[in-house]
Amino acid sequence: MTDKKPMRILSGIQPSGVLHIGNYFGMMKPAIALQAEGEALYFIADYHALTSVRDPEALRENSRRVAVDFLACGLDPERATVFRHSDVPQVTELAWILSTVAPMGLLERATSYKDKLARGMAATVGLFNYPVLMAADILIYDSDIVPVGKDQKQHIEITRDLAVKINETFGHVFKLPEARIQAATETVPGIDGQKMSKSYGNNIDIFGDEKDTRKRVMSIVTDSSPVDAPKDPANSTIFKLYSLMASKNEIADMRDRSLKGGTGYSDFKKQLFEKLWEYFAPMRKRREEILSDKSYIEDVLARGAKRANEIADQVMQRVRAAVGLR
Ligand code: AMP
Ligand code: TRP
Repeated sequence: MTDKKPMRILSGIQPSGVLHIGNYFGMMKPAIALQAEGEALYFIADYHALTSVRDPEALRENSRRVAVDFLACGLDPERATVFRHSDVPQVTELAWILSTVAPMGLLERATSYKDKLARGMAATVGLFNYPVLMAADILIYDSDIVPVGKDQKQHIEITRDLAVKINETFGHVFKLPEARIQAATETVPGIDGQKMSKSYGNNIDIFGDEKDTRKRVMSIVTDSSPVDAPKDPANSTIFKLYSLMASKNEIADMRDRSLKGGTGYSDFKKQLFEKLWEYFAPMRKRREEILSDKSYIEDVLARGAKRANEIADQVMQRVRAAVGLR
């Protein structure tokens, strides 16, 4: 008899601010596409957000809002399990167990910790230990595939390292998960051409209001080529963003007009704004519907928490038995 379990897909997103189109194309869109391919579990990483958010009301509100926005973008709660991180507190127990085998040097090499310190965040133990909690998030569901943006790749490698450490020490306890990174949208640029990130203030939000979104698109940084000059699409943030949303023909058309000269950057920006506004229109509509039903999101999260707990409890029994607890 073949024991063919569905592939388990897991990812998380921090509720530390509003979602931008870098989050959408880098992580949410691929995660939504994967929900049809196996058992998907997607959570709102509120424990993780505690490393940077100090306002309890803001954390609660943002967690709800990120869940609403994710559903509005196409996550289907009939197919995927959607839940809050903190509804599965067993992950913190697993993080402790993993931390007892985690080499200091492995965590000291984590680039996201170093980046966060460089951006002025306080060096807390939680921030340092973040990859261990993330490993627990992944391993506690026997996850096969983890769709994330490129910046999270090292965290998945650390997860695998920790799983191997446990397996070598206590016998086969964990499955080794794999990162799934979208090659086509490895890094979505922000309006200054750097990686789009809420902490750099260069973000275009998925559900920003029309006036603000237009303003942000119109302020995309370009070189100072005059209208007549040919413009290299490869160096253009406008073109890169447009390519994420437009059809093949539309992309080819913008490329031709860029290379030919005669069109100014502001016209390309207007075209990008129109495309962006149209692309997210069905999601804005869905979001209004979700928001109009007050209990909907809480019901979805409660159902998700129940399923996530079932899996986590089973895996934790296995872990506790393996390491000698109970
Ligand atoms: P963050 O908002 O940094 O917690 O990111 C949430 C998810 O979105 C992660 O999987 C990131 O890898 C992904 N992501 C964030 N910013 C970008 C970007 N500019 N390009 C591609 N993916 C991104
Ligand atoms: N660290 C991820 C981020 O900042 C969020 C996250 C937490 C996550 N736990 C996870 C992603 C587990 C995938 C799997 O974007």
